[in-house]
Amino acid sequence: MRTPLIVANWKMNKSIQDTENFVRELVPLVSDVSGTEIVICPPFISIPALRGALSGSGIKVGAQNLFWEMKGAYTGEISPLMLADAGCNYVILGHSERRQIMGENDTIINRKVRAALDAGIIPILCVGETLQERENHMAREVVKDQLIRNLKDISFAPGGLVIAYEPVWAIGTGVNASSDDAQDMVGFIRNCLARLYQREQAESIRILYGGSVKPENIAEFMAEEDVDGALVGGASLQAESFAGIVRFK
Ligand code: PGA
Repeated sequence: MRTPLIVANWKMNKSIQDTENFVRELVPLVSDVSGTEIVICPPFISIPALRGALSGSGIKVGAQNLFWEMKGAYTGEISPLMLADAGCNYVILGHSERRQIMGENDTIINRKVRAALDAGIIPILCVGETLQERENHMAREVVKDQLIRNLKDISFAPGGLVIAYEPVWAIGTGVNASSDDAQDMVGFIRNCLARLYQREQAESIRILYGGSVKPENIAEFMAEEDVDGALVGGASLQAESFAGIVRFK
């Protein structure tokens, strides 16, 4: 059985003070939730404060990016070892904003996935098609290519990899994929993974849906057979709405 996983992706939002206020509000709202893993990914600079504020809550900390080398002359970058040292259990990689705005390609993402695993951090690898690709009936091909390229020569311990299916057209738009469409692609991703990995490993991979997830639609996604959780942007910025998503049951 795969444990449901709900991940907050704060993107470039919230000060350190905002982070502490959020945790003060969130923790009592989710303290009776069991059997669901909760992760918050703040900007790098808030990671130590977030970790401190969450201490004893069972909620885990993730990062939104990392560099693929462990140390050295890479001005402005953050090492996987530094994130592990700061208490990060997870890292979001291959997000469409980084692919599109920062120009990260499949080779870079593949290096980052490997570096995260080498440092003992679980990658949350994001894949997904643009609206144009979907309209041209290329969505499956695009997602399959991303998986093959981003996971090239990557091995991991059971449970050590998470995939997030995030159709680009659903991110931050308020227009979510239907739960049927999400299940269709997530099921397809599961089949692709079954070709890339041994059965035990493939079945241990949690696959999240992301793109305009809200308290009002989370239950529909979680009811789908292959959807193991959600990667949440906008609706993770308020404690009350994030708690509403965490409490999907
Ligand atoms: P959204 O973002 O929930 O605001 O659509 C999701 C994401 O970018 O991970």
